[in-house]
Amino acid sequence: MPVVNFRKTDFLPAQEQGSALQKKLIITVDGPAASGKGTLAKKLADRLGYAYLDTGALYRAVAMATLEIGGDPGYMQDVAPALDIICRNLTPELLSNPSLRTPEVSQAASKVAAHPQVRQALLQYQRDFAHKPPGLVGGAVLDGRDIGTVVCPDADIKFFITASVEERAKRRYAELCDARTDMTFETVLDDLKTRDQRDATRAVAPTLAAEDAYILDTTGLNPAETLEEAISIIRARFLSETNDNGGAQPANGKPTATAV
Ligand code: C5P
Repeated sequence: MPVVNFRKTDFLPAQEQGSALQKKLIITVDGPAASGKGTLAKKLADRLGYAYLDTGALYRAVAMATLEIGGDPGYMQDVAPALDIICRNLTPELLSNPSLRTPEVSQAASKVAAHPQVRQALLQYQRDFAHKPPGLVGGAVLDGRDIGTVVCPDADIKFFITASVEERAKRRYAELCDARTDMTFETVLDDLKTRDQRDATRAVAPTLAAEDAYILDTTGLNPAETLEEAISIIRARFLSETNDNGGAQPANGKPTATAV
Protein backbone atom coordinates (compact mmCIF):
# COMPACT_ATOMS: atom_id res chain seq x y z
CA MET A 1 0.00 0.00 0.00
CA PRO A 2 1.38 3.46 -0.83
CA VAL A 3 2.00 6.00 1.93
CA VAL A 4 -1.14 7.85 0.91
CA ASN A 5 -3.99 5.48 0.31
CA PHE A 6 -6.66 7.06 -1.87
CA ARG A 7 -8.56 3.84 -2.44
CA LYS A 8 -12.21 4.08 -3.31
CA THR A 9 -13.80 1.37 -1.25
CA ASP A 10 -16.92 0.93 0.77
CA PHE A 11 -16.50 -2.67 1.78
CA LEU A 12 -15.17 -4.27 4.89
CA PRO A 13 -13.73 -7.77 5.19
CA ALA A 14 -16.41 -10.33 5.99
CA GLN A 15 -15.45 -10.47 9.64
CA GLU A 16 -16.14 -6.77 10.07
CA GLN A 17 -19.40 -6.62 8.06
CA GLY A 18 -22.31 -5.34 10.11
CA SER A 19 -20.07 -4.38 13.00
CA ALA A 20 -19.57 -1.05 14.68
CA LEU A 21 -16.19 -0.96 12.97
CA GLN A 22 -18.16 0.38 10.02
CA LYS A 23 -18.27 3.62 11.98
CA LYS A 24 -16.06 6.14 10.27
CA LEU A 25 -13.28 6.80 12.72
CA ILE A 26 -10.15 8.91 12.88
CA ILE A 27 -7.39 6.64 14.18
CA THR A 28 -3.97 7.98 15.15
CA VAL A 29 -0.83 5.86 15.44
CA ASP A 30 2.18 7.64 16.93
CA GLY A 31 5.54 6.37 18.06
CA PRO A 32 9.30 6.51 17.56
CA ALA A 33 11.15 5.41 14.43
CA ALA A 34 10.80 1.77 13.36
CA SER A 35 8.41 1.02 16.21
CA GLY A 36 6.01 -0.70 13.80
CA LYS A 37 3.56 2.20 13.71
CA GLY A 38 3.60 2.47 9.92
CA THR A 39 3.00 -1.24 9.45
CA LEU A 40 0.15 -1.20 11.96
CA ALA A 41 -1.42 1.96 10.50
CA LYS A 42 -1.34 0.54 6.95
CA LYS A 43 -2.82 -2.77 8.08
CA LEU A 44 -5.55 -1.04 10.07
CA ALA A 45 -6.47 1.12 7.08
CA ASP A 46 -6.50 -1.93 4.85
CA ARG A 47 -8.63 -3.95 7.26
CA LEU A 48 -11.16 -1.17 7.80
CA GLY A 49 -11.18 0.21 4.24
CA TYR A 50 -9.93 3.60 5.46
CA ALA A 51 -7.62 6.16 3.90
CA TYR A 52 -4.05 6.11 5.18
CA LEU A 53 -1.53 8.93 5.56
CA ASP A 54 2.12 8.46 6.52
CA THR A 55 2.77 11.95 7.89
CA GLY A 56 6.50 11.26 8.14
CA ALA A 57 6.56 11.29 4.34
CA LEU A 58 5.59 14.99 4.42
CA TYR A 59 8.65 15.86 6.50
CA ARG A 60 10.78 13.55 4.40
CA ALA A 61 9.63 15.30 1.22
CA VAL A 62 10.58 18.71 2.62
CA ALA A 63 13.92 17.28 3.77
CA MET A 64 14.74 15.70 0.42
CA ALA A 65 13.85 18.89 -1.45
CA THR A 66 16.09 20.88 0.92
CA LEU A 67 19.01 18.51 0.31
CA GLU A 68 18.39 18.59 -3.44
CA ILE A 69 18.75 22.36 -3.57
CA GLY A 70 21.93 22.13 -1.49
CA GLY A 71 20.38 23.52 1.69
CA ASP A 72 21.12 22.72 5.32
CA PRO A 73 18.01 21.13 6.92
CA GLY A 74 18.98 22.70 10.24
CA TYR A 75 18.51 26.25 8.93
CA MET A 76 15.00 27.50 8.30
CA GLN A 77 16.14 29.98 5.66
CA ASP A 78 17.50 27.03 3.63
CA VAL A 79 14.37 24.96 4.22
CA ALA A 80 11.86 27.71 3.31
CA PRO A 81 12.12 27.44 -0.51
CA ALA A 82 11.84 23.64 -0.36
CA LEU A 83 8.85 23.88 1.97
CA ASP A 84 7.14 26.24 -0.43
CA ILE A 85 7.64 23.87 -3.39
CA ILE A 86 6.46 20.81 -1.46
CA CYS A 87 3.36 22.53 -0.04
CA ARG A 88 2.25 23.34 -3.58
CA ASN A 89 2.95 19.82 -4.87
CA LEU A 90 1.70 17.39 -2.24
CA THR A 91 0.68 14.42 -4.36
CA PRO A 92 0.47 10.69 -3.53
CA GLU A 93 3.23 10.06 -6.10
CA LEU A 94 5.58 12.52 -4.43
CA LEU A 95 4.92 11.05 -0.99
CA SER A 96 5.44 7.49 -2.24
CA ASN A 97 8.87 8.18 -3.74
CA PRO A 98 11.22 5.41 -2.44
CA SER A 99 14.09 7.94 -2.33
CA LEU A 100 12.40 9.46 0.71
CA ARG A 101 13.38 6.40 2.74
CA THR A 102 17.19 6.75 2.71
CA PRO A 103 19.07 7.19 6.01
CA GLU A 104 20.28 10.66 4.90
CA VAL A 105 16.72 11.81 4.30
CA SER A 106 15.60 10.27 7.63
CA GLN A 107 18.10 12.39 9.56
CA ALA A 108 17.32 15.51 7.50
CA ALA A 109 13.57 14.96 8.04
CA SER A 110 14.09 14.96 11.77
CA LYS A 111 15.96 18.29 11.46
CA VAL A 112 13.38 20.05 9.26
CA ALA A 113 10.61 18.71 11.53
CA ALA A 114 12.03 20.71 14.44
CA HIS A 115 11.23 24.05 12.71
CA PRO A 116 7.87 25.41 13.93
CA GLN A 117 7.24 27.01 10.50
CA VAL A 118 7.54 23.62 8.81
CA ARG A 119 5.11 21.99 11.24
CA GLN A 120 2.64 24.85 10.86
CA ALA A 121 2.78 24.71 7.05
CA LEU A 122 2.02 20.96 7.02
CA LEU A 123 -0.66 20.99 9.71
CA GLN A 124 -3.76 21.82 7.67
CA TYR A 125 -3.02 19.19 5.01
CA GLN A 126 -2.94 16.53 7.73
CA ARG A 127 -6.10 17.79 9.45
CA ASP A 128 -7.98 17.97 6.15
CA PHE A 129 -6.90 14.41 5.37
CA ALA A 130 -8.16 13.18 8.73
CA HIS A 131 -11.50 14.97 8.64
CA LYS A 132 -12.24 14.64 4.92
CA PRO A 133 -10.31 11.59 3.77
CA PRO A 134 -9.94 11.35 0.00
CA GLY A 135 -11.35 8.59 -2.15
CA LEU A 136 -14.87 8.23 -0.76
CA VAL A 137 -13.72 6.39 2.32
CA GLY A 138 -15.17 7.65 5.57
CA GLY A 139 -12.42 6.99 8.05
CA ALA A 140 -8.73 7.75 8.19
CA VAL A 141 -5.62 6.34 9.82
CA LEU A 142 -2.65 8.68 10.24
CA ASP A 143 0.73 7.76 11.65
CA GLY A 144 3.46 10.05 12.95
CA ARG A 145 4.80 11.58 16.13
CA ASP A 146 2.25 14.24 17.13
CA ILE A 147 -0.96 13.07 15.49
CA GLY A 148 -2.80 12.25 18.70
CA THR A 149 -1.46 15.28 20.55
CA VAL A 150 -1.42 18.12 18.01
CA VAL A 151 -2.82 17.20 14.59
CA CYS A 152 -5.94 15.32 15.74
CA PRO A 153 -6.40 15.78 19.47
CA ASP A 154 -10.08 14.95 18.84
CA ALA A 155 -9.36 11.56 17.19
CA ASP A 156 -11.72 8.69 17.99
CA ILE A 157 -8.95 6.33 19.01
CA LYS A 158 -5.24 6.84 19.55
CA PHE A 159 -2.39 4.38 19.68
CA PHE A 160 1.19 4.97 20.76
CA ILE A 161 3.51 2.22 19.53
CA THR A 162 6.76 1.42 21.27
CA ALA A 163 9.45 -1.26 21.06
CA SER A 164 12.92 -1.54 22.54
CA VAL A 165 15.53 0.47 20.64
CA GLU A 166 17.50 -2.72 19.87
CA GLU A 167 14.41 -4.37 18.41
CA ARG A 168 13.65 -1.27 16.33
CA ALA A 169 17.22 -1.10 15.06
CA LYS A 170 17.06 -4.79 14.11
CA ARG A 171 13.93 -4.15 12.05
CA ARG A 172 15.37 -1.08 10.36
CA TYR A 173 18.67 -2.88 9.67
CA ALA A 174 16.81 -5.75 8.00
CA GLU A 175 14.87 -3.26 5.84
CA LEU A 176 18.04 -1.46 4.81
CA CYS A 177 20.16 -4.55 4.21
CA ASP A 178 18.80 -5.20 0.73
CA ALA A 179 19.27 -1.63 -0.39
CA ARG A 180 22.52 -0.73 1.39
CA THR A 181 25.23 -3.11 2.37
CA ASP A 182 27.59 -0.47 3.76
CA MET A 183 25.65 0.24 6.97
CA THR A 184 26.46 -1.72 10.07
CA PHE A 185 23.92 -2.61 12.73
CA GLU A 186 25.72 -0.22 15.11
CA THR A 187 25.33 2.68 12.64
CA VAL A 188 21.62 1.97 12.28
CA LEU A 189 21.24 1.81 16.06
CA ASP A 190 23.12 5.11 16.52
CA ASP A 191 21.05 6.79 13.78
CA LEU A 192 17.82 5.70 15.46
CA LYS A 193 18.96 6.91 18.88
CA THR A 194 20.01 10.30 17.46
CA ARG A 195 16.72 10.76 15.64
CA ASP A 196 14.61 9.60 18.61
CA GLN A 197 16.45 12.00 20.89
CA ARG A 198 15.97 14.93 18.50
CA ASP A 199 12.30 14.11 17.90
CA ALA A 200 11.52 13.60 21.58
CA THR A 201 13.25 16.71 22.89
CA ARG A 202 12.37 19.37 20.32
CA ALA A 203 10.45 22.36 21.60
CA VAL A 204 7.47 21.98 19.26
CA ALA A 205 5.28 18.88 19.02
CA PRO A 206 7.80 16.31 20.33
CA THR A 207 7.13 12.58 20.05
CA LEU A 208 4.63 12.02 22.83
CA ALA A 209 1.86 9.65 23.76
CA ALA A 210 -1.44 11.48 24.12
CA GLU A 211 -2.97 11.11 27.57
CA ASP A 212 -5.79 9.09 26.10
CA ALA A 213 -3.62 6.91 23.84
CA TYR A 214 -3.45 3.13 24.13
CA ILE A 215 0.19 2.15 24.42
CA LEU A 216 1.22 -0.97 22.52
CA ASP A 217 4.70 -2.41 23.00
CA THR A 218 5.47 -4.39 19.85
CA THR A 219 8.75 -5.89 21.10
CA GLY A 220 8.37 -9.59 20.40
CA LEU A 221 5.10 -9.13 18.49
CA ASN A 222 4.82 -9.75 14.78
CA PRO A 223 2.76 -7.37 12.58
CA ALA A 224 -0.26 -9.71 12.52
CA GLU A 225 -0.29 -9.98 16.32
CA THR A 226 0.04 -6.21 16.68
CA LEU A 227 -2.89 -5.72 14.29
CA GLU A 228 -5.08 -8.15 16.21
CA GLU A 229 -4.23 -6.40 19.47
CA ALA A 230 -5.20 -3.02 17.99
CA ILE A 231 -8.40 -4.36 16.45
CA SER A 232 -9.45 -5.92 19.74
CA ILE A 233 -8.89 -2.58 21.48
CA ILE A 234 -10.97 -0.79 18.85
CA ARG A 235 -13.72 -3.38 19.23
CA ALA A 236 -13.69 -3.06 22.98
CA ARG A 237 -13.78 0.71 22.68
CA PHE A 238 -16.65 0.85 20.22
CA LEU A 239 -18.62 -2.34 20.70
CA SER A 240 -19.84 -2.71 24.25
CA GLU A 241 -21.41 -6.06 23.49
CA THR A 242 -18.08 -7.56 22.40
CA ASN A 243 -15.96 -5.71 24.93
CA ASP A 244 -13.20 -8.29 24.90
CA ASN A 245 -9.96 -6.40 25.35
CA GLY A 246 -9.53 -7.63 28.87
CA GLY A 247 -9.03 -4.24 30.39
CA ALA A 248 -6.76 -2.52 27.86
CA GLN A 249 -6.37 1.02 29.08
CA PRO A 250 -5.17 4.27 27.61
CA ALA A 251 -1.95 5.86 28.81
CA ASN A 252 -3.60 7.85 31.58
CA GLY A 253 -4.75 4.62 33.15
CA LYS A 254 -8.43 5.57 33.02
CA PRO A 255 -10.57 2.94 31.36
CA THR A 256 -12.43 4.65 28.54
CA ALA A 257 -14.08 1.71 26.81
CA THR A 258 -17.48 3.28 26.28
CA ALA A 259 -20.40 1.86 24.36
CA VAL A 260 -21.57 3.55 21.18
O1 C5P B 1 7.88 8.42 10.60
P1 C5P B 1 9.17 8.71 9.89
O2 C5P B 1 10.33 8.04 10.51
O3 C5P B 1 9.08 8.51 8.42
O4 C5P B 1 9.37 10.30 10.09
C1 C5P B 1 10.53 10.96 9.65
C2 C5P B 1 10.75 12.15 10.56
O5 C5P B 1 9.69 13.08 10.38
C3 C5P B 1 10.77 11.83 12.04
O6 C5P B 1 12.07 11.50 12.51
C4 C5P B 1 10.25 13.09 12.69
O7 C5P B 1 11.29 14.00 12.94
C5 C5P B 1 9.36 13.71 11.61
N1 C5P B 1 7.94 13.56 11.89
C6 C5P B 1 7.37 14.46 12.75
N2 C5P B 1 6.03 14.44 12.96
C7 C5P B 1 5.27 13.52 12.38
C8 C5P B 1 5.84 12.57 11.51
C9 C5P B 1 7.20 12.60 11.31
O8 C5P B 1 8.05 15.30 13.33
N3 C5P B 1 3.95 13.54 12.59
